[in-house]
Amino acid sequence: MAPRKIIIDTDPGQDDAVAILLALASPDEIDLLGITAVAGNVPLPLTQKNARIVCELAGKPETKVFAGCDAPLSRTLMTAEHVHGKTGLDGPPMVEPTMPLQDQHGVDFIIETLRSEPSGTVTICPIGPMTNIATALERAPDIVPRIQEIVLMGGAYFEVGNVTPAAEFNIYVDPEAAKIVFDSGAPLTVMPLDVTHKALTTKTRIDAFRALNTKVGDAVAAWTDFFERFDMEKYGSEGAPLHDPCTVAYLIKPELFQGRHINVEIETSSELTRGMTVADWWRVTDRPANAMFMKDIDATGFYDLLAERLARF
Ligand code: RIB
Ligand code: CA
Repeated sequence: MAPRKIIIDTDPGQDDAVAILLALASPDEIDLLGITAVAGNVPLPLTQKNARIVCELAGKPETKVFAGCDAPLSRTLMTAEHVHGKTGLDGPPMVEPTMPLQDQHGVDFIIETLRSEPSGTVTICPIGPMTNIATALERAPDIVPRIQEIVLMGGAYFEVGNVTPAAEFNIYVDPEAAKIVFDSGAPLTVMPLDVTHKALTTKTRIDAFRALNTKVGDAVAAWTDFFERFDMEKYGSEGAPLHDPCTVAYLIKPELFQGRHINVEIETSSELTRGMTVADWWRVTDRPANAMFMKDIDATGFYDLLAERLARF
């Protein structure tokens, strides 16, 4: 089967970095057409730089990296240095990237790619606030029916929020953008905290990365060591959720995940519940299903896949 053509829209972030590495390590399943950076965990100048750092770490400096939107559609940017560190990739020492940033704006790249590739053959993987995606859909509504699938990390239902009691970070930062995406009619597959919080970075799993004895293995181990301290302290868990790689892992091995096709709406008007993904898991409304909302993961299989693929670098 031909590899899936994808665009990763990202705000690196240690977990974003692992998602990008997983994609770059899997050319038989993934044809990474480009990476579009967005403001999120850290401001855009850092997220676009971090995306290039990760591509160079993977030995893939030819990867096309684009800068997208530097702020949410209508709200003030909220970042997460307290989780990801000042650089967004705190943990291991990192070198300045030398590979170029593309001149084209990330939103224009998304629109141009969807219009030029055969309809229904491009998947978009948003793993940060969805400002770039929403801007593209608003500017070029004709691309919506051309999207094969949007596989995103964001939202929460049973797990509730991680940035407020009601909302997960990616949705909270730009709820208007998330609403545009969830209302678009494009096929959606959602990796919410309900599933990512079942994919914890335990010591054994991090040791498996370190045991690779490679630059990539060492970097991923150092990133997860740094990244997990915040969640372990907050949740008292034995590790941190490795959120973003769940999207790419789904594209490679969908059987690792289980969920339901349900209606999911985004709260944008109430400040108390801003960014809540109102998931009709029990189908108590007659609102039409618009998203495959994941709830369970084979965590062992997920980490086995990660270790096996990262060993390829
Ligand atoms: O809430 C988790 C999400 O927010 C992840 O994508 C993480 O990278 C941050 O962007
Ligand atoms: Ca992210």
